[in-house]
Amino acid sequence: DEMEQFLAQLPKVELHLHIEGTLEPEMMFALAERNGVKLSYPDPEALRRAYQFDNLQSFLDLYYQGTSVLKTSQDFYDLAMAYFSRCDQEHVLHYEIMFDPQAHLSRGVAMNTIMEGLTGAMEDAQRKYGASSGLILSLLRHLPEQDGIDALLQAKPWQHKILAIGLDSSEKGNPPGRFRKAFDIADDYGWHRVAHAGEEGPASYIWEAIRELHVRRVDHGVRCSDDTKLMSYLKQYQVPLTVCPLSNVRLGVYSDLRQHNLKMLLEKGLCVTINSDDPAYFGGYMTANMLAVQRAFNLTESQWLQLTANAINASFAPVERKQALK
Ligand code: HPA
Ligand code: ZN
Repeated sequence: DEMEQFLAQLPKVELHLHIEGTLEPEMMFALAERNGVKLSYPDPEALRRAYQFDNLQSFLDLYYQGTSVLKTSQDFYDLAMAYFSRCDQEHVLHYEIMFDPQAHLSRGVAMNTIMEGLTGAMEDAQRKYGASSGLILSLLRHLPEQDGIDALLQAKPWQHKILAIGLDSSEKGNPPGRFRKAFDIADDYGWHRVAHAGEEGPASYIWEAIRELHVRRVDHGVRCSDDTKLMSYLKQYQVPLTVCPLSNVRLGVYSDLRQHNLKMLLEKGLCVTINSDDPAYFGGYMTANMLAVQRAFNLTESQWLQLTANAINASFAPVERKQALK
């Protein structure tokens, strides 16, 4: 219908996207073949059928297994280029993408291999599609802080090609405060700061990410609605939340999209944005997330324009680029 047309053609900005989470089963099998890696599923269909998750951890187990096919800079290039081409089709004009270097360094893949592939694709996407992009180096919170610091030191030669530090992986029992030293190093590199907080973990982790890691933007953050003081704070300072609707339903954060609090948060004036997180695993890229939200909440055109304006404001794009996106 008309609203679906409107959403399909709307210029978009994506701020919460794990590039490893865009690895579609077909590409996983193609790269496995190219690199001589054995997968534990017979074909892409069987793999896709296994994408039935009970919670964040059951997803992460498959997500980290999937990374085993990524070996060369060409693999990282192809992975990123497939997502960028998808973005072009969906009118996503600016994206800030996360990557998990520790998931690759631990398998013997060098930081240079990852960075050459990703930055090469970003430069080509800029030329080919006119899209702007940034890289967020995300630390794995289930590993010791020192492991993350080691990854940061390996990224030092690339510091000017990276926009921000992030924090992801298993949230419960891994509070943000444990990563202060790592985030201080990112500060010395001149990076912005984001962290996953309040996806499965409590609202207190959102406070901790703000107070101890000085994050400028919170990934997920939906559990803020358990804490009215926190909601007021997020509204007052317009701290952006990168909400991922299909992800939250697939990982059981909400049983159903209609139970999601994103409309409430938006109507209360918080800086909510919509994102796809790990689209190959959760059944949809940006447009699919927006259409699912529209079916659940029947938002108005002005609410959609607000969500888009929020994403532009929440981005780390230079002011001139933000103006061009508006
Ligand atoms: N949450 C935590 N870690 C992740 C996610 C997520 O949604 N996606 C990839 N790593
Ligand atoms: Zn995420």
